[in-house]
Amino acid sequence: MTHTGKTRLAGVMGWPVAHSRSPRLHGHWLERYGIDGAYLPLAVPPERIGQAIAALPALGFAGCNVTVPHKEEALAAVDRVEETAERIGAVNTIVVEEDGSLTGSNTDAFGFMANLRAGVGDWRHDRPALVLGAGGAARAIIVGLLDDGVRRVRLCNRTRSRAESLANELGPGIDVVPWSERSEASGGCGLLVNTTTLGMAGKAALDIALDDLDAEAVVSDIVYVPLETSLLRAARARHLRCVDGLGMLLHQARPGFAAWFGRKAEVDEALRDVVLADLAA
Ligand code: ATR
Repeated sequence: MTHTGKTRLAGVMGWPVAHSRSPRLHGHWLERYGIDGAYLPLAVPPERIGQAIAALPALGFAGCNVTVPHKEEALAAVDRVEETAERIGAVNTIVVEEDGSLTGSNTDAFGFMANLRAGVGDWRHDRPALVLGAGGAARAIIVGLLDDGVRRVRLCNRTRSRAESLANELGPGIDVVPWSERSEASGGCGLLVNTTTLGMAGKAALDIALDDLDAEAVVSDIVYVPLETSLLRAARARHLRCVDGLGMLLHQARPGFAAWFGRKAEVDEALRDVVLADLAA
């Protein structure tokens, strides 16, 4: 698509930013919907993130995504923070409002929940969910689960103190379970989510037994390289319903695209193929 003087601008600020799949993903949607827009990788070093975000309105940007390591800093750099982002403690999407002010939101919880819904439809919200890991991804996912009506989350992390602070911050409904009891803790759960880096290419596999999971439980991994982790392979072998990690990345991009480019974007096989080909390159 040729750019005109009216091109809508957005991008992703990260450091480094070259690994980000977002330019490819938004680029696919822009092309597909024939939108005069551009979505650029913006390499911003940590000491300049405040300046870079403040410059968005002056540069005529519609907004941007913010990725590692800027998600927490971005909270302080915007004029308004949506409630979910406040609770997660991180902003990943910024929208420049008509008056030039900046609104920060976090679409990771939405991305996880939308992917889960697209992948398996209905699942047992009335059962506890077991979340492995207590980093930034776990925070967003727990907020998404609690907002979606899950009443109890079993939180299990190698470093117990991290799980405890997360449980204290995110309020009642979260029970911290020792890392050594992760297999047994899955008993009676409606959902098991891996938010740790275990299973990622180059890292150790996640060592967990799935024998205690009910036949109707859903197993989800946020790792997407490889797409089929050993956790998902083991869950499929048990005929459990599975949700892979790529969809969360794709769905979390939807609210930003709609806000900046004024068009609802769809997550479908074509988009998955484009991003998968990019990951394989
Ligand atoms: P993110 O913000 O992307 O979630 P993170 O904050 O680095 O990433 O969190 C990574 C998660 O993987 C943490 O829960 C980490 O556990 P610790 O809090 O104990 O560090 C978990 N993790 C990483 N390597 C692990 C390993 N070898 N065994 C168990 N958990 C591991």
